[in-house]
Amino acid sequence: MVDSLQDLIQKAAHIIVKSKNLIALTGAGMSAESGIPTFRGENGLWSKYRPEELATPEAFFRNPRFVWEWYAWRIGLVINAKPNPAHKALAELEKMGFLKLTITQNVDNLHERAGTKRLVKLHGDILTARCVSCGYKLHMSEPPKEIPPKCPSCGDIMRPDVVWFGEPLPVKALEKAFEYARRADAIIVVGTSGVVYPAGIIPHVVKNSGGTVIEVNIAESGITEIADIFLKGAAGKVLPELVLEVKRISERT
Ligand code: APR
Repeated sequence: MVDSLQDLIQKAAHIIVKSKNLIALTGAGMSAESGIPTFRGENGLWSKYRPEELATPEAFFRNPRFVWEWYAWRIGLVINAKPNPAHKALAELEKMGFLKLTITQNVDNLHERAGTKRLVKLHGDILTARCVSCGYKLHMSEPPKEIPPKCPSCGDIMRPDVVWFGEPLPVKALEKAFEYARRADAIIVVGTSGVVYPAGIIPHVVKNSGGTVIEVNIAESGITEIADIFLKGAAGKVLPELVLEVKRISERT
C-alpha cells in the first residue's frame, strides 16, 4: 500500500525534528507560485527563449541591449512578486532552529523578503548589476532606466550579477554550500529539476554522507531517484503543511 501524502509529510516532519544539520536546496519551482516563471517544463522560459541567446557571456557581449531587455523584464517580475507560503515556511523552519542553511539557485530576493537569514545564492542576484571592467556593483530597486546601464565608477557597461551558462559559480557560496552538504543529516530539495550542475550535486553529497533526502516537487525530477521521501505537490501547499506537522511533533516531544 503506497503511503498517502499526509503519511509522507508526517514521516518527513519526524526526520526534520530529529535532524541536527538540516539544509535546503531550492530552485525555480520555489518562486513559481509567486508568478515567476520556471526555466524548464511546459511553460518554462527555455521553451520560449534560447538560453544560448540570453544566458551566456557570448550572448551578452554580442548584444548587451537585447540581453538587458530580457533581464529588465525579469527584474520587473521579481520586484512586483511577493514571497509565497513556501518561502515563508522555510523562513519559519529556520526561525524554529531546524533549518541551518538555505541554498538557492534562484536569483530573486524572495527568500530574503520572507525572512530567511542563513542563505547562500549559488547563481547570483538579478537585482544587482556588476561592471564588466572594474567589478563595481549596483543594487537595483527597479529595472535600469538606461540599457545597458553604465558603471558610475569607470563608465564601462554593467551586466546582471548572475551566473550564466559556462561561467563559474561564486567560490565562497559554492564552498559554503558543499561544506554544509557534507555535514547535513537531512536536506529538503524544493522545486528544482536537478539537472544543472554543480548545484544539482548537492543532494547527492548529502545522500552519500548518509543523510536523508526529502524532495518537494509537482513532478519527478533528476533528484527523485535518490529521494528517500518524495512529497508530490506544490511547494506553496506542501511546505506549510510540513512546518505545521513539525510544530505539532516538536510541541509533543
Ligand atoms: N512547487 C514545487 N515544484 C515546482 C512548482 C511548484 N509550484 N512549479 C514547478 N516546480 C518544479 C518543476 O517540476 C521543476 O522540477 O520546479 C522545477 C523547476 O525546474 P527548472 O525550471 O529547471 O528550475 P531550476 O531547477 O531551478 O533550474 C536550475 O537552471 O536555467 C538555469 O540558472 C538557471 O538556476 C537555474 C538553473
